[in-house]
Formats: sequence, structure tokens, C-alpha cells
Amino acid sequence: MDFGLRNRLSRIIKPETGHTVMLAVDHGYFLGPISKLEKPGQTIEPLMPYADALMLTRGVLRSSVPAETSVPIVLRVSGGTSIVGKNLANEEITTSMEEAVRLNVSAVALSIFVGTEYENQTLTNLSYLVDRGQDYGIPVLAVTAVGKELEKRDAKYLALCCRIAAELGAHFIKTYYCDGFEKVAGSCPVPLVIAGGPKLDTELDAMKMAYDAIQKGAVGVDMGRNIWQSPHPVPMIQAIRAVVHEGVKPEEAHEIFKEKRDQD
Ligand code: 5RP
Repeated sequence: MDFGLRNRLSRIIKPETGHTVMLAVDHGYFLGPISKLEKPGQTIEPLMPYADALMLTRGVLRSSVPAETSVPIVLRVSGGTSIVGKNLANEEITTSMEEAVRLNVSAVALSIFVGTEYENQTLTNLSYLVDRGQDYGIPVLAVTAVGKELEKRDAKYLALCCRIAAELGAHFIKTYYCDGFEKVAGSCPVPLVIAGGPKLDTELDAMKMAYDAIQKGAVGVDMGRNIWQSPHPVPMIQAIRAVVHEGVKPEEAHEIFKEKRDQD
């Protein structure tokens, strides 16, 4: 990997700990104005000081993030589908690499839909993006999307998706936590981060998931709803940081959460 790529990646995955807490706020690209992300700027602003990177689309970046920010940007560059449309998997590349450069991003992200009708299209999108990323020194995050078919969240399927993404050249990969996650991480030769997925019942549940993922080989989280759909998003991201960067156990992180929440 050349200097530009490594340098950009090291802005996201912090060399001090080898870990990252990415904040995902790209959901509107197919879900529209979901709960607590109706006004992205308001959701993002208080969380920015605690995010190692922000994952979002160019529209939200331009409209809702101050250009003075030093938080690295992971730009979602795939889409073209919606939750009410025919097939979520039918994604194309929606933003050029030149635009990513203009926006001074640290990485680009796109989804792949392995095992769907659009497997070939989304995997060749990934290969194309990796080639373009190599040209410009911009790392590519492959998101192993499962669309509406969440039942596919098992280790065998996710290990397959992550390995294929790595083989096609993805520089890092976002997947889901699952039972047997160590098999997913253990057979993937590039860094993995986990999505939070839909909001879990409690904050403690999300902390446990992040803790287990790190223990089993993830380098971090790219978490959205379990942070900003919490009634206390800032204490939540602070607690998640303690888990990811300091290896704090979930129960202890939950105490941190309660302490920060009571001061909020
Ligand atoms: C959608 C995404 C989202 O960024 C991802 O799902 C992370 O957010 P959450 O923690 O809310 O699941 O990539 O494809």
C-alpha cells in the first residue's frame, strides 16, 4: 500500500490503539429521514468530537458538516435504490472518485450484496472502485450489506462476503456482528469494523456487542442507530469509545455511560 492510502487509513484507524469508532450517518441514502436523523446536522454536531470518522453521503457532508472539521470523512458512494423500491441490492456507484478527492475524503464506501441477483454488479462496482482508489490513494470500505434479508447474518455467509471483498481489493470492510464472529475476522486479511444494526433494547446490549466484536478480531465499529437513537447519544458514544479504544468491559462502560448521562 502506498503512502497516500496508508496515511488516509491511519486517520480513520487510529495508530495509537489500532482501533476506530466511526459514526455512521449515511442511512438516508436509502431510508430517507429516519428517526433521529431527520436533521442530520443536529444529530452529528454534538457527536463529532468523539467520532474517529464520519460515514455519510456527499449531500449530507455538503449541507450539514462544517468545512472546518478535522474529522476524517468516509464517503458513501453507492446507492440508487430505496426502501420502498423493488430491490435494495441494485446499487450503482453514485459519486465519482474525482468528487471524493474534491471533498477531501479519507475513504470511500460502497455496499456489496453477495448471494443476490445483483452480486456480480455490486462486486464489479467494488473492483472498479478499488482501481480508482489505487489511482488516487483513497482507501475503499466494502460494506457487506444484507438488505432486507437480515436472516443471512450468520458467520458462514458473512465470512464469505468479507473474504470476497478482501480478495477484490477492499482496504477495509464493514460487516455485522454474529455468533462465531471470530471465524469471520479470522479469515479476512484486512481490517474489519462492525455496523451496530437496528437499535438494540438497551445501551448495555450495544456495548456488549462492540466489546465481543473487538475481542474476536474487529478493529472497531461503524455505528449509527445504537448511538444516535439512544436518548443519550453523547454518553453512549463516549462509552463505546472506552470499549473500543481502552478495552473497557461492557458493564464498566455502562457505568461510564450512566455517569456521563447523569451529568448531561
Ligand atoms: C447501511 C450502512 C449503515 O451505515 C450501517 O448500517 C451502520 O449503521 P447502523 O449502526 O445504524 O447499522 O452502511 O448500509
